[in-house]
Parts: sequence; structure tokens; C-alpha cells
Amino acid sequence: MKTAIYPGTFDPVTNGHLDILARASEIFDEIIMAVAVDSNKTTLFSLEERVALLEEATKDMKGVKVKGFEGLTVELARRCGAKAILRGLRVMADFEYEFQLALMNKKLAPDIETVFLMTKSDFSFISSSSIKWAASLKGSISEFVPPHVEKALLERYPHD
Ligand code: COA
Repeated sequence: MKTAIYPGTFDPVTNGHLDILARASEIFDEIIMAVAVDSNKTTLFSLEERVALLEEATKDMKGVKVKGFEGLTVELARRCGAKAILRGLRVMADFEYEFQLALMNKKLAPDIETVFLMTKSDFSFISSSSIKWAASLKGSISEFVPPHVEKALLERYPHD
């Protein structure tokens, strides 16, 4: 069985992440969405909330599991029997960071490969931060996140 892990902060999950996931599901038998505690980011949603939002978003997808994790991504990959770490690339600006992360992971675990998929152009300009920013200023975000994520964001940033 070909298993991959798709790590990220997912604060919150967006349609961009879900597009990468749907396309990767055609390549891998099993994908573990790995929601990181250690990602150098201060998050709006707790780990439990981020996991719950992802579980709801992926509940109808076969072969997809959601897991919160602490520690190294490569260690989780090993524990799950995954040979690949899946990441999405949006714009050139992502490349340097992703390249560094992939090289570091390769050094830590030479047996595990990082696999990149290019984000669909419709989502190439979005990020979890820009969606949170727009939601906090009453911007419409329904195009970019599933309805239950939009609801969670509107509850976090209530407007009259
Ligand atoms: N569509 C839309 N947005 C996307 C996207 C896509 N296809 N792919 C990524 N993004 C956005 C995310 O929304 C996120 O936006 P934000 O910065 O505004 O939050 C950004 O791109 C990148 O985030 P994400 O994919 O969640 O990755 P991350 O950089 O937050 O997380 C980890 C990186 C979790 C993989 C990394 O920190 C990690 O591996 N941590 C564990 C410890 C470890 O092993 N460290 C590395 C070795 S030392």
C-alpha cells in the first residue's frame, strides 16, 4: 500500500489544501493529514479544532485519515509506514522555504521522499492567513473554504 503524509498547520484547512489532497488521492492509496503542533506559528484554532475541521472536510474521501502530531514530520511518516511527504506549491515564493524543508527532511530521513503538487491556479494566491485576515474584515471567503470552515471563522470573528 502506498501511504503519504500531508503535513501542515491547517489553521484552517482551505480549498487549496483540499484540491492538493483530492489530486494526490489518485496517486496514493492512503493519505494521512498530519496536523502539526510544532510549526512555528501561533494559531487561531486549537489543535483539536483544526483536526475537527479537517475531519469534517475529508469525511467523504476514501483512504484519508486525520491525525494531530507533535515532533518531527519524518518520525510520524516512519511510524505510519509512509514513504512520502506530500506538499503543495503555490507560487515561486514557496519554493525556497519548501526546498529547505525538503532538504532538511531528506537529511533526517534519507528513505523518505517529499512529493510536490502544483496548486490549482484558482487557489495559487490564497493562504490560511489571508483568509483569516479577510474574514476578520468582513470579506467574503466562501469561495476559498468549505462552508463549515467559513462558519467557524465567522464565529471567531463575529460581525453585526
Ligand atoms: N492552497 C492554499 N494555501 C496553501 C496551500 C494550498 N495548496 N498549500 C499551502 N498553503 C498555505 C497554508 O495555508 C499556509 O498559509 P499560512 O502561512 O498563512 O498559514 C502556508 O501555505 C504554508 O502552510 P502549511 O502548508 O500549513 O505548512 P506550514 O509551513 O504551516 O507547516 C510543517 C509546515 C508543519 C510541515 C512543518 O512546520 C513541520 O514539518 N513541522 C514539524 C516539525 C518538523 O519536522 N520540522 C521540520 C524539520 S526541522
